Amino acid sequence: MGREFIPLFDEWAEFYDETVSGQDAEYKDVFENYEGILKLVAQKSKGRVLEFGVGTGNLTEKLIGLGREVYGVEPSKVMREKTKARFMNLELYDGDFIQFPNLPGKIDSIVSTYAFHHLTDDEKDTAIKLYSEMLETGGKIVFADTVFLNERDRNERHRIVKEQGYENLLKDLQSEHYTTLEVLKQIFEIHGFQVNFEKLNSYVWVMEAVKENKK
Ligand SMILES: C[S@@+](CC[C@H](N)C(=O)[O-])C[C@H]1O[C@@H](n2cnc3c(N)ncnc32)[C@H](O)[C@@H]1O
Repeated sequence: MGREFIPLFDEWAEFYDETVSGQDAEYKDVFENYEGILKLVAQKSKGRVLEFGVGTGNLTEKLIGLGREVYGVEPSKVMREKTKARFMNLELYDGDFIQFPNLPGKIDSIVSTYAFHHLTDDEKDTAIKLYSEMLETGGKIVFADTVFLNERDRNERHRIVKEQGYENLLKDLQSEHYTTLEVLKQIFEIHGFQVNFEKLNSYVWVMEAVKENKK
């Protein structure tokens, strides 16, 4: 679910890595400290890791580098091909945040970077409920993504981007399902997670949610 953006990613796959390296001025601030953000998410993960929205495999690389056992889920065929070419032995599935094949065993953490905003807030709730059922107490969700503090923060960011003349970025911010910390905190807590947020650049926050008790 939340697959309406897949054609865009099939097209973007070819030059995605140029964008994240800061070569596209419009998205430079979104991907500021991209490598550091991925590294941090990987370091916060543990054990057997389920990764959603693997893209070209940049977070996957960090996870593998730390010796994690990784199960990847990616709905874009072109993105999957890119990642498969880098990590031939990776368990990589066609799926999305909510619908994905059965995994061979229990997992200890669920990670994702720059992707959770493809779900509406209702879909985010469905996803976190599902992960709450999958994880044992102490299991973790570690996501990094663009999030707004609140609606005022969102409006201010739209104003800045408009002033910068970044029409594509503005369109993304207005049309994709970017949410607020308030909404995310509520979703995680309702489903039995204790969550912490840390701001990593002007757009991106890391959220680290630890499963407290079985629901
Ligand atoms: C901006 S890229 C991020 C890729 C990688 N995680 C990174 O940090 O570079 C977003 C990825 O999420 C994938 N995606 C889009 N909708 C999705 C969904 N509903 N469930 C899982 N992944 C999704 C896209 O195909 C794309 O590969």
